[in-house]
Amino acid sequence: MRQIILHGGVGSSDELSPLLNKYASFSINYGDPLDAVVAAVKYLEDDLNFNAGTGSVMRLDGSIQMDASVMVDGNFGSVINIESVKNPVQVAREVMEKSPHVMLCGDGATKFAFENGHPRYDPSTERARKRLEESRVIAKNDKRFLYPGTQSVDTVGAVANFDGKIAAALSTGGSSPMMRGRVGDTPILGSGILVRDGFGIAATGIGEEIIRRQLSFDLYCARDRLEAEWKSIASNSPFALGVVGFNGKEPFVYANKSMAHGYAKLD
Ligand code: GLY
Repeated sequence: MRQIILHGGVGSSDELSPLLNKYASFSINYGDPLDAVVAAVKYLEDDLNFNAGTGSVMRLDGSIQMDASVMVDGNFGSVINIESVKNPVQVAREVMEKSPHVMLCGDGATKFAFENGHPRYDPSTERARKRLEESRVIAKNDKRFLYPGTQSVDTVGAVANFDGKIAAALSTGGSSPMMRGRVGDTPILGSGILVRDGFGIAATGIGEEIIRRQLSFDLYCARDRLEAEWKSIASNSPFALGVVGFNGKEPFVYANKSMAHGYAKLD
């Protein structure tokens, strides 16, 4: 049996869920779960509704730096603060499969992408420019601007389970307002993403909070009482958090705020 589950980021409107169901139904036709999650996240990166790839939010200095990751059981790849590429998730996959490393950041990640044939691309949009003005006002009014004034946390993610083989992928422009160089949970194994022992998870929310809680690893450790553990984490978090994934064959979706999500299954 093949299954895939996607999210459009915590805080994204439930009205976008039919669109995510459509992306899930396209992506499930790929033969391998890693191909499926990368395809799904690319659809979301290319869709201006979401804060990843084209449509990513801007840093306070007006730049766009993106994070993305992919994971299968026993292997991982991520890019941190990559710039000027269309599909960071594809570069994260190439870090995992073509480089000797598991994480590349900044100029090194961007250079690696160009060397691997990704053309230079400007992911900025008019909407991101408008949101930058709002970000700058939030940041000016509160020097610890990340909370509770956070404007945007809508990372996108996907987890697929094809006959017990699991893959996960995440991509984001980051939680704004944020400084240039800031890193969230998306490219951090055990925080935003984890695939291990028949368990796979893709998280969304304020990256700093997810990293402090090691959210994905925590839920993996508590997989025998997943729902109870989630309820405890969510009720103790004043910040938006969400996850999708598989605990064995069982798909799960939890969020403490609205979160667009999609699902497809093929017997
Ligand atoms: N969850 C995305 C971020 O905080 O960057």
